[in-house]
Amino acid sequence: MQFENLLIKNKGRIQYIIINRESKLNALNKATLAELHTAFSEAFKNPEVGGIIITGAGQKAFVAGADISEFVGVDAKGGRDIATTGQTNVFDVIENGCKPVIAAINGFALGGGLELAMACHIRIAADSAKMGLPEVTLGLVPGYGGTQRLPRLIGKGRAMELIMTGEMIAAGKAEQYGLVNHTLSQDELLPKAEEILLKILSRGPLAVASAIRAINASCNPGENGFEVEINEFSKCFATNDMREGISAFLEKRNPQFKGE
Ligand code: COA
Repeated sequence: MQFENLLIKNKGRIQYIIINRESKLNALNKATLAELHTAFSEAFKNPEVGGIIITGAGQKAFVAGADISEFVGVDAKGGRDIATTGQTNVFDVIENGCKPVIAAINGFALGGGLELAMACHIRIAADSAKMGLPEVTLGLVPGYGGTQRLPRLIGKGRAMELIMTGEMIAAGKAEQYGLVNHTLSQDELLPKAEEILLKILSRGPLAVASAIRAINASCNPGENGFEVEINEFSKCFATNDMREGISAFLEKRNPQFKGE
C-alpha cells in the first residue's frame, strides 16, 4: 500500500503505521485521516498482520494535532462534519479494532494527536514527549473523543484541569496519571512497543480480540460490560484456540494458537 502521508512498514506480524508529515509536526489533515482509515481497515483485515504500532516520523512529534490550517472558514455544520467523520472513520475504528494497537508517542502528542493515542489500546512514550489537549487555546474543544477518553484514562478532575487550561504535561507526569503505561528514552521506545506487542501476539488472538471488546464495553454506558464479558467468555469456549491453550497447559508445552 502506498500513501502520501503515511509510511507502512511490516516487521514479521507487526505492522508499523508511521505518520509522515514531519515538516508539519505530523498534523492530521483530512488526507492523512482518510489514509489512516484505509490503513487501519486494511491492517485489521490482513491475516498477516497480528498487531499495529503507530508512531510519528522524526523525533519531535507524534502528532501535533489536527491541521489547524484546515479550520479556517469552517462553520458549525462543517465543524460537526469534521468531528463526526473523524470519530467514526478513524478514532472509533482504531479503538474497536480486533487487533492490538500500541501508540509509541515519540514527541508532541497534542489535540488530535493525543486523541489518536488515546484511541489506541496501549500508550507508551519517549521521555521527551509532551502531551495535552490545547484546543481551548484556539477557542475550541477537543472533537475527536478527547473529552470522553481523557477522563476515562486519568479521572474527571485531572481531565477538567488539562482540558480547561490547555496545558501540556511531560511524559513522566503522563505516566504518573496513567495516561501512558511506560516512559522510555527515544532509543528504547520502539523496542519496548515491539516487546509488548510480541508478548500479546504469543497469546490466543481470538481471546485478545474478545478482551478488547469486553474492556471497551466497560467504558460504554450504552452496554452492560458484564454481559459483554459473559458473551466473550462463552465464545472462547467455541474456539480451537481455547482447547489448544488448555491442552498445552496440561501437557506442559507452549500453545500453538491458530486464531480459529
Ligand atoms: N496544524 C497545522 N500545522 C501545524 C500544527 C498543527 N496542529 N502544529 C504544528 N504545525 C506546523 C507549524 O505551523 C510549522 O509549520 P511552518 O514551518 O510551515 O510554519 C511547523 O508545523 C513546525 O511547527 P512550529 O510551531 O514552528 O514548531 P515549534 O517547535 O515552535 O512549536 C508546537 C511546536 C507543537 C508547540 C507548536 O507547533 C504548536 O503549538 N502546534 C499546535 C498544537 C495545537 O494547538 N494542536 C491542537 C490542534 S486542534
